[in-house]
Amino acid sequence: MSEVNAAQISYWNEVAGPKWVRIGDEMDARFVRITEALMAQASPQPGARVLDIGAGTGATAWPLARAVGAGGMVTGIDISAPMLGVARARGAGHPNVSFLEADAQIHDFGAQRFDLLCSRFGVMFFGDPVAAFANLRRAMAPAGRLCFACWAPLAANPHWAIPFEIVVAALGPPAPRHPHAPGPMAFSDPDYVTGILQAAGFTHIAVTPTNIPIIGRSVAEEARIAGVLGPSGALLDEKQADADMRAAMQTQFATALSAFAQADGSVASPACVHIVTARPQ
Ligand SMILES: C[S@@+](CC[C@H](N)C(=O)[O-])C[C@H]1O[C@@H](n2cnc3c(N)ncnc32)[C@H](O)[C@@H]1O
Repeated sequence: MSEVNAAQISYWNEVAGPKWVRIGDEMDARFVRITEALMAQASPQPGARVLDIGAGTGATAWPLARAVGAGGMVTGIDISAPMLGVARARGAGHPNVSFLEADAQIHDFGAQRFDLLCSRFGVMFFGDPVAAFANLRRAMAPAGRLCFACWAPLAANPHWAIPFEIVVAALGPPAPRHPHAPGPMAFSDPDYVTGILQAAGFTHIAVTPTNIPIIGRSVAEEARIAGVLGPSGALLDEKQADADMRAAMQTQFATALSAFAQADGSVASPACVHIVTARPQ
């Protein structure tokens, strides 16, 4: 595979991909309401040809495939072999879904033309986002549509902000980094995203903030995930926190996140995503 996004390729194959795979179905359960909102906006039509960008373990490929039916097809593209391994295993027996291990920023889609480009959190990791979206736009049918979900700013996402602030208080802030550096929060500024899509040739661009809860199985499970993924997990890794520190942090996360516990023991943490739509011309 190319070296254009070498750091992200190694991160998603060696660090983040294995973490997602270990957490397994719980990740999809947490994001089920986000997936529903994305599908409602993307509105995949029967017979459509769909590209799922950064398809990961295939969580959105299946709802897309159900919507387009036997006459349509879904291609999931991703750079993470471990995540695609899960996606492919889930896809056994689905002839209209296929997965491609390739970098969406530079992959040559040849003569393929997609009616819908869709992504749940898979487009914020490009080293050159304008080049990536220009490449993706070339693979779209003239009447095609782009629809993806990305994270709104940290402050609008307490499920991440609360554990992150706990780690900052204990271990100090992360090393300074560019706010638009590839990562989960890279697209949290609507003006920045709009500028990228305009520069890549897209029109009819709309960014819709969507408040939606993340549904965790339990407070303990949410605290465990915050210790591994997201800004809190990344900061614990950056600070090389040892097992004792991680355990102490997890206890504090659980205390704080219990504010969102439901009567049945699940956790509904407030969250906000931006659903971005655009057309190729
Ligand atoms: C946060 S995960 C989201 C995965 C999946 N869409 C989901 O919601 O479960 C981001 C995904 O984007 C993929 N990714 C990052 N950079 C990519 C690139 N340049 N081309 C294709 N996929 C990429 C990662 O490997 C990872 O699977």
